[in-house]
Amino acid sequence: MDEFTVKNETILGYMPGSRERKDLEAALKKVESTCEDVPIVIGGKEFRTEDVRYQVMPHNHKKKIAKFYYATPDLIGKAIDAAVAAQKEWDAVPLKERIAMWLRAADMMSSSQWRPVLNATTMLGQSKTMIQAEIDSAAELIDFMRFNAFFAKEASKYQPVSENPAVTLNSHRYRGLDGFVASISPFNFTAIGGNLAYAPALMGCATVWKPSDTAVLSNYTIYKIMTAAGVPPGVVNFVPADGPVFGKAITDSPHLSGINFTGSVPTFNWLWSAVGKNIGRYVNFPRLIGECGGKNYHFVHPSADVKTTVVSTIRSSFEYCGQKCSACSRMYVPKSLWQQIKCGLLDTRDELKVGDATEHDSFMSAVIDDKAFKRITGYIEHAKSSPNVELIAGGGYTDECGYFVEPTIVESKDPRDKIMTEEIFGPVLAIYVYDDADIEKVLDLVGSSTPYALTGAVFAQDREFLKYAAERLKMTAGNFYLNDKSTGSVVGQQPFGGSRMSGTNDKAGGPHYVLRWATPQSVKETF
Ligand code: ALA
Repeated sequence: MDEFTVKNETILGYMPGSRERKDLEAALKKVESTCEDVPIVIGGKEFRTEDVRYQVMPHNHKKKIAKFYYATPDLIGKAIDAAVAAQKEWDAVPLKERIAMWLRAADMMSSSQWRPVLNATTMLGQSKTMIQAEIDSAAELIDFMRFNAFFAKEASKYQPVSENPAVTLNSHRYRGLDGFVASISPFNFTAIGGNLAYAPALMGCATVWKPSDTAVLSNYTIYKIMTAAGVPPGVVNFVPADGPVFGKAITDSPHLSGINFTGSVPTFNWLWSAVGKNIGRYVNFPRLIGECGGKNYHFVHPSADVKTTVVSTIRSSFEYCGQKCSACSRMYVPKSLWQQIKCGLLDTRDELKVGDATEHDSFMSAVIDDKAFKRITGYIEHAKSSPNVELIAGGGYTDECGYFVEPTIVESKDPRDKIMTEEIFGPVLAIYVYDDADIEKVLDLVGSSTPYALTGAVFAQDREFLKYAAERLKMTAGNFYLNDKSTGSVVGQQPFGGSRMSGTNDKAGGPHYVLRWATPQSVKETF
């Protein structure tokens, strides 16, 4: 295997007048003025059904940017057959060649031909601002491709001990999972779609990929790039579909070898139950990998630096409208710092501009769709009407042109109120102010008041406390930050994932992740 190293993709600055800014503006114009026809692709062939759907721009929901089609159960079955048929031949392609394809794809994604398209489809289709798109559909996506290739190469080096190789030679090799892997991806990170569909493929699996309805166009762009980079027909099949119809079709198939999922807890629970019910019919025990919900926290110690705490919290709670899996949604503040922190949060919040994703001074844009808008505003109405909760900033919303919700801050007198414990997945920050003397009780609450353990952050200048908190809170977050926001994990630097109801903690962007999509064989040869 040829040696190579990787480093994280540089995040571009998009200064006015720069080449990348001009390319992006041109791509935005093109995507906005077209309604791209996005087919179902199975075994390299395009299909269209009568069940026509549209992807709209969340910040201007009258504007359609993609027309797509829901696959019927028959077509999902065809996609499964195509994946199963492609898998054996694909797995026989040397890892070295697959790695070369992934590195080529990463370079294409980084190029001035494709980067602007990835970013424009993410900005317009998922209402990300320019910088939020750049860190997702450019940097993180490219990093997944390069780092997974690197981790696959490193893993392939392992060889077991052979005490006397002239007599007995032990060796070890990985192969892909036979059958097919179902990849079910979310709207909130274009990069996650690419990782869920293509990390298994890198390792020799074939996938049937159901993108989110609200990220179809950016995800299809990934599909086009990977195909142009050399991924053969049938290895990844692009299959937009109704969720329950897709779930039933994949879990009914005896060839299901794995599910790579990011989405809600109820959906992941449903998939586990369906697999459990069908367990007798599978050729292999399917591997179930999931990243689900979160109720991520910022815990503030009386020794915390106020400015760092405020800026980190505003960014974590409101960048991309609080729709990152890692976004801070609950905060615990000691009474001794509350007035300073409150002033800081309110002043900083007042500076945030909410607007179109394409207006370059927008800090945040619209939430993803009508369903999200209703769920989030339901929590805001709860805050307005509950005697336990005080709305301290924001609380406005409108869905007239786009699904806009103001960055909202509430104070809850009850640390177990639903606003402090349930996932909202929107721009709502709930704060509980605690008596400094009650710090131990509040540390207990951090872990016991929600079923999740995705991300968390502790703010303190007292290093002894940081050490103590890291141990005390180790069960409460898969990604744990000291004096930094709970968002913004970087591939290869902070592999991402959580446990409890947040998922199987298989750490996307880390060295173990790719091995979940390979199965090893030990070989003993005796001479
Ligand atoms: N990488 C994303 C974050 O940590 C999920 O915010």
